[in-house]
Amino acid sequence: MAEKLMCAVQYDSYGGGAAGLKQVEVPVPTPSKGEVLLKLEATTLNPIDWKIQKGLFRPLMPKRFPYIPATDVAGEVVEVGPGVENFKPGDKVIASLNVGIDGGGSCSILHLFYGFSLIVVMNILDKKKQTGGGLAEYAVAKIDMTVHRPAEISAAEGASFPIAGLTAHGALTLAGLKFDGPDPGPQKNILVTAASGGVGHFAVQLAKLGNAHVTATCGVRNIDLVRSLGADEVLDYKTPAGAVLKSPSGKKYDAVIQCASAIPWSVFEPNLNSTGKVIDLTPGTSAMWTYAVKKLTLSKKQLVPFMNSVKAENLVYLAELVKQGNLKVVIDCKHALNDAEAAWAKSIDGHATGKIVVEP
Ligand SMILES: NC(=O)c1ccc[n+]([C@@H]2O[C@H](COP(=O)([O-])OP(=O)(O)OC[C@H]3O[C@@H](n4cnc5c(N)ncnc54)[C@H](OP(=O)(O)O)[C@@H]3O)[C@@H](O)[C@H]2O)c1
Repeated sequence: MAEKLMCAVQYDSYGGGAAGLKQVEVPVPTPSKGEVLLKLEATTLNPIDWKIQKGLFRPLMPKRFPYIPATDVAGEVVEVGPGVENFKPGDKVIASLNVGIDGGGSCSILHLFYGFSLIVVMNILDKKKQTGGGLAEYAVAKIDMTVHRPAEISAAEGASFPIAGLTAHGALTLAGLKFDGPDPGPQKNILVTAASGGVGHFAVQLAKLGNAHVTATCGVRNIDLVRSLGADEVLDYKTPAGAVLKSPSGKKYDAVIQCASAIPWSVFEPNLNSTGKVIDLTPGTSAMWTYAVKKLTLSKKQLVPFMNSVKAENLVYLAELVKQGNLKVVIDCKHALNDAEAAWAKSIDGHATGKIVVEP
């Protein structure tokens, strides 16, 4: 019998940006043990998706070409693999696909070799065949990275938080915020840079839920939005005050959730309290050097490189917050699968407000 085909978007070599994507028809994947087949309703893009295409994790990621990118999805279970008991056809779910990034919170000294060690972790965890990514009509998800989607959450909202929401949650947890009960300690001062982005807009809201005083940076067009998400003070990053990250009220930061890129340590340092940390989501060579020097000199002020860890229990926690209306998902734009190239270009451009959604 002929295989059932689906529409998908893939690339077959490194580089090329949006022009490197191809609209294709490929076989619908089959779920193996512990997996479910999803008919996708929404997929969101993250910068990691186009960074993989750019070759940041070359030569190990992607493992092979052609490659269907994107990992953050929401959809409906249409088939279950052997041994699957907690999902059935018809269930609406949110999943992080098997082609994504996994890791474990902050980095150890090994992560001086950041990119390389990340790839090693990914490959150790990803022993199974690559089953297809999120830019497709169907995808296979592992059940340990899949959670039920409450009816109150749209597919676009559900696909928005596996990487972005969990990264914000993980980074703030590393910064010392508590989400599982009252924190008896003094209120923490948190700076969120690039607060209008996919990670940043979740970080502002979660930091408020963690009882922090939040200063945020964004472009002038997003100041009202970021304030509406709960930020106590907002800086336009293109002004002199924004460029030096100085809190308008003069507060020093206990932690910075660094979602922007390439801000040197010398800019953060004078704004940190005596034990302040910069949790850096995109540490480059200079940040890794700072990390090592601060560690080796036992400095109280630290730079902490961060890698996201996808845990189903944290996905459930974020889904519950969205369901209750306590966490808002900001969506920049929605594109059909046959217009995924435009979504990809928008992500590379780096000026999205919230999440970029592709709807197969
Ligand atoms: N380590 C990990 O596990 C992990 C996980 C997730 C993400 N990340 C990384 O974290 C970074 C942020 O991801 P994202 O998904 O939030 O990106 P994103 O959605 O593409 O961020 C876009 C937003 O950032 C704002 N922005 C850019 N530069 C800024 C600056 N210097 N100051 C203030 N705002 C600025 C833009 O505002 P304008 O349009 O006004 O310029 C735009 O609204 C990326 O580098 C990503 O690769 C790392």
